Amino acid sequence: MNEFEAKRSLAGERILLGVSGGIAAYKAAELVRRLRDADAEVRVVLTEAAAHFVGAATFQALSGHPVRSSLWDPAAEAAMGHIELARWATRVVIAPASADVIAKLAHGHANDLLSTLCLVTTAQLTLAPAMNNRMWWHPATQANVATLCERGAQLIGPDDGSQACGEFGPGRLVEPDAIVRALIASRVPSGSGPLAGQRVLVSAGPTYEDLDPVRYLGNRSSGKMGFALAAAAAELGADVTLIAGPVALPTPAGVRRIDVRRAVEMCDAALSALPQDIYIGAAAVADYMPARTATDKIKKPILDQGSDAASRNSGLTLDLVRTPDILAEIAAHPQRPRLVVGFAAETGNLAESAREKLQRKRVDAIAANRVGVEGCGFDCDSNALSVFWAGGEAELGPASKTQVARDLLLLLLDRLPAARA
Ligand SMILES: Cc1cc2nc3c(=O)[nH]c(=O)nc-3n(C[C@H](O)[C@H](O)[C@H](O)COP(=O)(O)O)c2cc1C
Repeated sequence: MNEFEAKRSLAGERILLGVSGGIAAYKAAELVRRLRDADAEVRVVLTEAAAHFVGAATFQALSGHPVRSSLWDPAAEAAMGHIELARWATRVVIAPASADVIAKLAHGHANDLLSTLCLVTTAQLTLAPAMNNRMWWHPATQANVATLCERGAQLIGPDDGSQACGEFGPGRLVEPDAIVRALIASRVPSGSGPLAGQRVLVSAGPTYEDLDPVRYLGNRSSGKMGFALAAAAAELGADVTLIAGPVALPTPAGVRRIDVRRAVEMCDAALSALPQDIYIGAAAVADYMPARTATDKIKKPILDQGSDAASRNSGLTLDLVRTPDILAEIAAHPQRPRLVVGFAAETGNLAESAREKLQRKRVDAIAANRVGVEGCGFDCDSNALSVFWAGGEAELGPASKTQVARDLLLLLLDRLPAARA
């Protein structure tokens, strides 16, 4: 737990911990300890499948309360125990969340105690999935997760790495400590989070490089990732300035926004916004711009009937020049922010290109969009990132951009001392 989050706790939270049937259920016992260490009150519900992996006695001893696992418990249900439990909770945390429980919740099933509670409760739902990586990547699971996130569920993980089944990939339960950290981070009031007192500058969206009054060179960036980062940084307490390329997105609450169009304008705005503590360059900045912008619309040549094939097929050659490298300029600036993070869209040799960029541009971390992962990247609401820094690397998502943004900031706070004030 980093030093900022250590000061926070889950005091006052009544956490209903749902444990579903997966190998990682054994880690839920440790999670109960960590939640109680963070001052949360915990009650545990085991699914029938979970009870094949772990025993109720362990959870009863660790939580200090009887464990429930059946909807058909005559003593508890005489007083409609499931409704009472659902009302009691300020948060429902399901860890590990099996593919099955995720599917049930996405489709509103209520055929066991845990799924019924989830339909009744108005408490925040948090899911920490754990499953074989193929189960995780299955379109059905991805769609179910997306549905639950759209409804406001908080997603923690899964982590990437070696799995109990002998395979490698995303699907590991996030470690109990990190789950507690994410829960704490999501409850801190604005202005008092782990980024409180820090100035964070984020660039977002595409740039448009004008050819003439009606045409431009642009790209498919929606700006959603950068806007999610600005929103997440504000939620974590930062004083956020967002430099936005041409996008039609609402300004996140509590964020100062500067609209720009061209790469040179974005660069000027970013340099003018210094000093800052953290810079995150999430914008898809054009590498080239027209050497000149025509003042009048560029017209096609008018060809008469007698024009030869060469004239009819003659193309238009654009003279392009390099745009400023905003990331490198900020990293080399005398008022360099303590932490400079670049984004990259890589197609091949992701790790190699990202590490090369890390060194060449002298930045602290590179978040590489995993282009090619279904449902991720440009113009969609989810993303997956590979994050590289001098001492390590990590995989985030696929998850909603809101979730990936929050996870990226927490990762930076956790792993890069320069992210902390
Ligand atoms: C040995 C074993 C390990 C399993 N591990 C997982 C797992 O890690 N994640 C998962 O989603 N399902 C796993 N399953 C399948 C679930 O236990 C199964 O889908 C079950 O119906 C889930 O029920 P629940 O969601 O009500 O807990 C495993 C099954 C077995 C037999």
